[in-house]
Amino acid sequence: MAENSASEAGFISRVFSELFGSPLNVGLLCICAFLLYKIFKGRGSSDPIPKKPELPKMKKRDFTLEQLREFDGKGPEGRILIAVNGKVFDVTRGKRFYGPGSPYGVFAGRDASRGLATFSLTEDVLKDEYDDLSDLTSMQMESVREWEMQFTEKYDYVGQLLKPGEVPHDYTDTEDENPEKSEKSEAEKKTD
Ligand code: HEM
Repeated sequence: MAENSASEAGFISRVFSELFGSPLNVGLLCICAFLLYKIFKGRGSSDPIPKKPELPKMKKRDFTLEQLREFDGKGPEGRILIAVNGKVFDVTRGKRFYGPGSPYGVFAGRDASRGLATFSLTEDVLKDEYDDLSDLTSMQMESVREWEMQFTEKYDYVGQLLKPGEVPHDYTDTEDENPEKSEKSEAEKKTD
């Protein structure tokens, strides 16, 4: 019995020294704690201000990088778009993640692919010019595709991110849904 509690105490102290033993670990723990705080603070806020009505669904269109940057949530409408792997998603319903001052606000109005692939939230990682992601490893590209799937599940696909010189598609006589994704109704999409 006494042996059991001694080995338990030993285990706990090993975990603690593993977690807090290096400045890098302490830094990472602080970042985790900060992000969790921001995420859950946003979720639990009992805001007395009435919720803004949901924005109407955006008409499908393609975007240059410059056009995408207009949708960073700071405009009068507050709409937030994010590109992942060449696809643009309307993430306005996730504004507690991507809105101004939110944990992932750095991605608002940007191509987030490189940041997501490298698990980085620093703005310098995101390029100001078109990013063809050609230097990413196959594992990082796999991660980008997984994020793209996650965004497809949760958010509305609104169009493509245009490469330099690429001509926007004409969506006038196409369905208003992403043809590549399984048909999912609005109700089926996850909400926060
Ligand atoms: C280091 C510690 C981190 C912690 C503890 C953390 C925690 C979380 C949690 C708890 C969620 C789910 C929130 C919810 O659904 O209610 C989440 C979502 C997410 N995280 Fe993190 N995260 C961390 C780092 C990162 C990093 C470095 C990135 C990007 C480079 C990232 C990008 C995202 C994205 C894009 C979502 C999805 C938001 C959405 O549903 O639209 N996270 N994170």
